[in-house]
Amino acid sequence: MGMDRLRLISGLILLLYVTGHLANLFPGIWSLQAMNREFELWHELWESLAGKTLLYSAFILHLGTVFWGVARRRTLRLPALQIWQILLGLLIPWLMLRHWVAATGGESIWGLELDFRHVVALLWQGGWSSLVSQTAGVVVVWLHAMIGLHLWLRFKSWYPPWQGLLLVLAVVWPLLALAGFIAAGSEVQLRADQAQWWAVVEREGHITPEKLAEMTWVIGWVVTTYPLLLLLIFAGRQIRLWLLHRLSAVRLYYRDHHILPVTTGASVLETLQQAGIPHASVCGGRGRCTTCRVRLGEGGEALSPADAVEQRALRRVNLHGEEISSQQLRLACRIHPTEDLEVTPLLAPNCSYSESHLQPSHVTGEERELVVLFADLRGFTAMSEHRLPFDVVFILNRYFRAMGLSVEESGGYLDKFIGDGAMALFGLDVPVEQGCREALECLGRVHQRLAEVNEGLVNDLEQPLRVGIGVHMGRAVVGRLGHGQARQLTAIGDVVNTAARLESLCKPYGVAAIVSSDVMERSGFAHQHLQQHAISIRGRQQALQIYAAESLEDFIESSNKGLHGLKNGSD
Ligand code: FES
Repeated sequence: MGMDRLRLISGLILLLYVTGHLANLFPGIWSLQAMNREFELWHELWESLAGKTLLYSAFILHLGTVFWGVARRRTLRLPALQIWQILLGLLIPWLMLRHWVAATGGESIWGLELDFRHVVALLWQGGWSSLVSQTAGVVVVWLHAMIGLHLWLRFKSWYPPWQGLLLVLAVVWPLLALAGFIAAGSEVQLRADQAQWWAVVEREGHITPEKLAEMTWVIGWVVTTYPLLLLLIFAGRQIRLWLLHRLSAVRLYYRDHHILPVTTGASVLETLQQAGIPHASVCGGRGRCTTCRVRLGEGGEALSPADAVEQRALRRVNLHGEEISSQQLRLACRIHPTEDLEVTPLLAPNCSYSESHLQPSHVTGEERELVVLFADLRGFTAMSEHRLPFDVVFILNRYFRAMGLSVEESGGYLDKFIGDGAMALFGLDVPVEQGCREALECLGRVHQRLAEVNEGLVNDLEQPLRVGIGVHMGRAVVGRLGHGQARQLTAIGDVVNTAARLESLCKPYGVAAIVSSDVMERSGFAHQHLQQHAISIRGRQQALQIYAAESLEDFIESSNKGLHGLKNGSD
């Protein structure tokens, strides 16, 4: 079992204990007696041999894994929330020592027999410093636990909808405990005024001034020693890093312009963090979020294969064994270069988990081949001049529906409507060859659906609706662009401009569609029956080979003949 898992499990056991312990304080709102009764049950459970073993092992393991994690980290440049969690965690032993020494050593070392009333009485008798350090201790423990819980749960799909409710619980729980503690403390104060009550408490709990003095001395000693222990751990860590750094000859080449020395055993993420280079790492390098993923260049083959944790994480972004090796995609936090290595980041340094996770890579931004289709309604301006706005909206919506359904049924993605035009993308989730076929099939569907619209509007239209369509394929940058609600998946690049240009040429050429020869050829569909031309496109140096057709029906013929038609060379 890895250190992270060990820390998580031990942390959950401690959280269970702390949550129940805080719940012990709730009845204090009603009375000290009620609180004491509640505590008896809880005490029995955790004071049993099994309970004690579980609790102390979890405590030692958790503290040990935290110390180990801090000592072996090559860098402490971590996400802010994780830094807070570590700092609060390191503060806990220091703040809670008084409580632990009294609770654990009180009975076994000094022979005290304390129930909850006695503990509350002792804490309140200790004055403001005791109360403040106890309250601060509880707040720090709870904050540390809640941050840890959040860091763990945020990758669970069920968590976001429940987050608000859990946050309310996380706030209300310690507040109720604090209310119980204050109410019980007030009762103690009232009773303490009666000298005989305090005498009874001391007698029942076997509390003597000598024992209290000894306990105070031990607590003082441990409180002073703990910071020294921390100092020792951090100093040891620095010396170790210095030695590792000096002994390493490995270099990391990052984004073509950074050459960084790699400390022996450091991961790529740690190397970048050490050098102060921002790199996405939402989970803080625990192999859970995949935001740190990089594309490997030279030296990638020398890395050891992805382990189970890395493979599981990469599978969540739809990358599997072969793809991982063929695309050379790895998690920067899981790879430890032993030879010079070149890497390119795939996500922006400030990328959030939701932006990167459970989404295909084209959603987060990538350059890739795809097919772009542009369509425009012919003669729409003239048609709309003589109509009421309601009529125009009605007709346009029929047309948009026909276009939208045609694209979706063909397997494409309707990018946007622009005025009376539309832009669609094909080949986003399938090989581009299939995207080409889907785009051509879409032309046939547009023809059929538009014919249905025209039939339904036969009494309203002087002329049937007609469209001009341009289709081209090539490399484009695909990603979610925009801001807020207006952020959506789209493509930018020369292929988009060229497809739009082909569509605009339909009118002067007197054709219904112009499809680049790249699309026809990569589709594998028959195209011998279509006219081929070479045209010049503004902004392109070379002529573009295209196929044009006066009717969209011609493309139905293409797709009907399909691959078979091409193989036989028939038209
Ligand atoms: S930083 Fe989260 S997986 Fe690497």
